[in-house]
Amino acid sequence: MLRRVLRPARRVPLWLVLPVGLAFFFEVCIHMYQYHVPKPDRELDAPFFTTCQEPDTTAPRENAVLVMLARNSELVAANKTITSIDHAFNRWFNYPIVFMNDEPWSQKFIDVLNKTSRGLATFEVIPQKTWTFPEWMNEGAAKQAIKEQGEQGLPHAGSEGYHHMCRYYSGKFYQMDFLKKYKWYWRLEPDVDFTCSITYDPFVQMAKNDKVYGFTIALWEVGKTCPSLFREMADWKEMHGIPTNNLWRAMVQASWMPFPFRRFLNFLAHRDRSGDPWSLCHYWSNFEIADMDFFRSPAYQDFFEYLDKKGGFYFERWGDAAVHSLAVAMYVDPRQVHHFEDFGYRHDKLYQCPANAPGGQLPGSLALGNEPWSPEMDGGVGCRCTCDGRTRRNFEGYCLNKVKQPNTRSRPWLTWFL
Ligand SMILES: *[C@@H]1O[C@H](CO)[C@@H](O)[C@H](O)[C@H]1NC(C)=O
Ligand SMILES: *[C@@H]1O[C@H](CO)[C@@H](O)[C@H](O)[C@H]1NC(C)=O
Repeated sequence: MLRRVLRPARRVPLWLVLPVGLAFFFEVCIHMYQYHVPKPDRELDAPFFTTCQEPDTTAPRENAVLVMLARNSELVAANKTITSIDHAFNRWFNYPIVFMNDEPWSQKFIDVLNKTSRGLATFEVIPQKTWTFPEWMNEGAAKQAIKEQGEQGLPHAGSEGYHHMCRYYSGKFYQMDFLKKYKWYWRLEPDVDFTCSITYDPFVQMAKNDKVYGFTIALWEVGKTCPSLFREMADWKEMHGIPTNNLWRAMVQASWMPFPFRRFLNFLAHRDRSGDPWSLCHYWSNFEIADMDFFRSPAYQDFFEYLDKKGGFYFERWGDAAVHSLAVAMYVDPRQVHHFEDFGYRHDKLYQCPANAPGGQLPGSLALGNEPWSPEMDGGVGCRCTCDGRTRRNFEGYCLNKVKQPNTRSRPWLTWFL
């Protein structure tokens, strides 16, 4: 009697465990391999220039505009950005600047910024109906959700205006009448430093090299601000049969869970229908140089409308950076995305500041003047950068390294994990 009770439960026989285990293992390997982004054998996205150029102020310009969303209270910070970009770039190229505000501009802001701006400055007010909740949305519920997000301490998520701003930059921005006449935009923010000279016209180079989207910094999104965003995007991609390119692959961190269990993970945040998560990598959209025709295309605008209907710009805090990045990964060939690694850029606490190109600083140039610059270093691509001892950048270049590998020294086996 006792012996029967003590007899161990029947084990799964070894001859079964082994092949099933191996099958799972190989399935996972194949699955990981499908998301493996092969190291390109040549640089696919070299900087447009790696030394200073004598600014060609007579060359034709592109149909482009600098844009800044600002509040009257950000006068000093906005003035600082415009002073910086003017010195680094626009004193030679004179592109127009559009300032956007959801409230009427103060005369003081207009007077100061009009004076600081080299190019033609215009001061636009975003229509009220654009800067508010969508008509169909229960405003009370949305406000309550925003309050709760704020109480959870999610960055900026307690501010109603911030949600409107994310929705605006995600889709509405590209429909504004005051931007209709332009094709390219360069997004600015109050309190930005451009720490290198930009002696060529980036709009012209974007057009010439068939680029669609340009960025300076890529980093990780705060996951809690957008738990359902990636799933909505991946669903849209699947619904429309959009093929997966290497940029999308680079954004996904393929799951180690074997099929069919992988699928059951898809209820977790940031997972697509098959259970694979987004790495949270995205381009930091407070700097962008991009083609508005892409964002105005029916493909993008329909997709934005779809996202908007899901309510996540308010019931979560979907950021325009993540929306733009995943949309670019979904629709744009990776070769049409450009990393401005030769630009010095700082906003908040994040920056990139390249080393200066040896022998490429045009010391006698009258246009560039004779202000001092940081040391020149082998491999440097910067022009007259003043980095104040800062390192090249203070953040990891995560998904970036996968599609731009000739520049990085990561070990090949690591790419399986990264
Ligand atoms: C705006 O910037 C200019 C320099 O470009 C400076 O002379 C001026 O004092 C600044 N004004 C304010 C209000 O910060
Ligand atoms: C900006 O300044 C210029 C030249 O001083 C002036 O003609 C123009 O009307 C000003 N623009 C605005 C919006 O005040």
